[in-house]
Amino acid sequence: MPRDIIIDTDPGQDDAVAILLALASPEELNVLGVTAVAGNVPLPLTQRNARIICELAGHTHVPVFAGCDRPLSRRLVTAEHVHGKTGLDGPQLPDPTMALQDQHAVDFIIETLRERPSGTVTLCPLGPLTNIATAFQRAPDIIARVQDIVLMGGAYFEVGNITPAAEFNIYVDPHAAENVFRSGAPITVMPLDLTHKALTTAGRVASFRAMGTHVGTMVAEWTDFFERFDKEKYGSEGAPLHDPCVIAYLIRPDLFTGRFINVEVETTSELTMGMTVADWWGVTNRPANATFMGHVDAAGFFALLTERIARL
Ligand code: RIB
Ligand code: CA
Repeated sequence: MPRDIIIDTDPGQDDAVAILLALASPEELNVLGVTAVAGNVPLPLTQRNARIICELAGHTHVPVFAGCDRPLSRRLVTAEHVHGKTGLDGPQLPDPTMALQDQHAVDFIIETLRERPSGTVTLCPLGPLTNIATAFQRAPDIIARVQDIVLMGGAYFEVGNITPAAEFNIYVDPHAAENVFRSGAPITVMPLDLTHKALTTAGRVASFRAMGTHVGTMVAEWTDFFERFDKEKYGSEGAPLHDPCVIAYLIRPDLFTGRFINVEVETTSELTMGMTVADWWGVTNRPANATFMGHVDAAGFFALLTERIARL
């Protein structure tokens, strides 16, 4: 029986690969909807990009919703320097033809969790947690109904990528992240500690291109564009494919290992704003609230990704 999921996203080339992986895996995953949030680029672009990706996969039946256009209380910080002006720079893409849903993404999240049996819907945030936190604040009754939240965000050993202390998704809306991590909902975290072990390589990108499919070529071109920033910054051979780790975990959890620990979010100090303080070594008495992933079988991850993307 496939798992029902909602993908909350700020596409972003890596978000795009994550969405494609999910849509290519109907045996394991049933995408109830894609909800866009402001993050890598402003909301008008993330909701447009989400529709482009669903169309590219041939899944125009998947409803796409626009959500929050700014963080709960801080000004929006975007990442065009990484993802380009459109958020999906790399290949030239036509405007989407599929419609955007009229319903607000937050209302869709609330309605879906209330209407479906409790414990049967998994939330997959791939961007700032603004939509999720807003839904929890507006309808606290849905928190107990969430099957799992599997999110990309945070960092501990890997430290920050947008500031020395903070990972981008958490940094953009630290108050939303604090709300989610303190909500009591089950949480599985894919931090930079993990995603930085899921690095592209020339061979892995060549595998996408060698598919000879339109989708495979798009993924290769997105990756070529997206990886230039991290390769220059870290001097690495490739770039971390952050968001697909969330979806790959739902399909092959055996590829991942982590610990159930306490994770808190800095929301007062500007110096460390958005830092995820992960008690990996258990030095506090703070109650565990999240499974914080530390390792991925990178070869297994890319084998899964290549096998599934080739289906589209
Ligand atoms: O820090 C990496 C995260 O920020 C990824 O989700 C990427 O898409 C950006 O949203
Ligand atoms: Ca993202």
